[in-house]
Amino acid sequence: MMRSESPVPQTVPDEDEFRASVHAGLRQQPKTIPPKFFYDAHGSHLFDLICTTPEYYPTRTETGILKRYGAEIVELIGTSCALIELGSGSAIKTPLLLQHLADNAVYVPIDICESNLLQSTQRLQAMFPALHMRPLCVDYTRIPLHTLKRLSDRRQVFFFPGSTIGNYTPEDAVQLLKQFAEMVDRNGALLIGVDCKKAPEILNAAYNDAQGYTAAFNLNLLTRMQRELDAQLDANHFAHYAFYNAALGRIEMHLVSQCDQVIRLGKESFPLDEGETIHTENSYKYTAHEFQQLARAAGWHLKTTWSDHGGLFNMHYLSLSTTEPRHLARRMR
Ligand code: AVI
Repeated sequence: MMRSESPVPQTVPDEDEFRASVHAGLRQQPKTIPPKFFYDAHGSHLFDLICTTPEYYPTRTETGILKRYGAEIVELIGTSCALIELGSGSAIKTPLLLQHLADNAVYVPIDICESNLLQSTQRLQAMFPALHMRPLCVDYTRIPLHTLKRLSDRRQVFFFPGSTIGNYTPEDAVQLLKQFAEMVDRNGALLIGVDCKKAPEILNAAYNDAQGYTAAFNLNLLTRMQRELDAQLDANHFAHYAFYNAALGRIEMHLVSQCDQVIRLGKESFPLDEGETIHTENSYKYTAHEFQQLARAAGWHLKTTWSDHGGLFNMHYLSLSTTEPRHLARRMR
């Protein structure tokens, strides 16, 4: 049985927020829709499929780091901590940390998708029956004040894997990291996965997988607009486009209009020229040093970094304390 004591709060982005964001984004020039709307049930499923492709290295690389260093990481963050996963999704990699936690530790998965949250918590609770689990259904950027305190009095360690931080602009990433610093206890910590800069061929392949899952993930946004907002458009008249913008250090994803066309949404019409794009996602890549600078600007101190042998991906351990000792960065051999 799941050891959830608090009811799962309902603060999910609703249809109004989706509608308002799409309206505002399509009015802009260039047109844009925020990536958080990728994740309806089908989009979340497609994202899980992307993570299994040979081209999308971040998931398996981060998993490899957690497999190799999980025990050492938990030793540092504290075996009896409250591990708070921000945007837990399917929480596939989390057992690699949970298996090293003591029975008196607490796991708090936080996600906006209630069905995902409940399913993954049930799966994890079955794997770790003694561990206390307190799922929280909320947008991790809008956790109500004092909620975390009420859930556990253990040392709070935020876990933010998957390089989701890369989906924010560097300015917004600093703001988000500041927000995390304000939300967490003074003795708290942040364990964060960050994708690294690397050869453009590797990056371009990762966002253009041969099986077409990334394309389907991107195009699903249009289907979602049709289904939920009754948008009048033809998804077949758009194509997936993803490329590494080296000057800005980011992958950009766009939906490219294949002809002159009009999207109708309620009473508004949004004309698109052939070749015009809707910018749907950025995925920034950082060297360890660049990320350390961002984190520093948000008040975090880097304590340790774990890496894979190819230097593709980093797992950083940050704390708010200047006195907590720093450990050498580890790279798999
Ligand atoms: C969730 N996020 C870190 C993924 C990324 O790599 O930026 C989302 C994604 N978009 C396309 N493929 C994966």
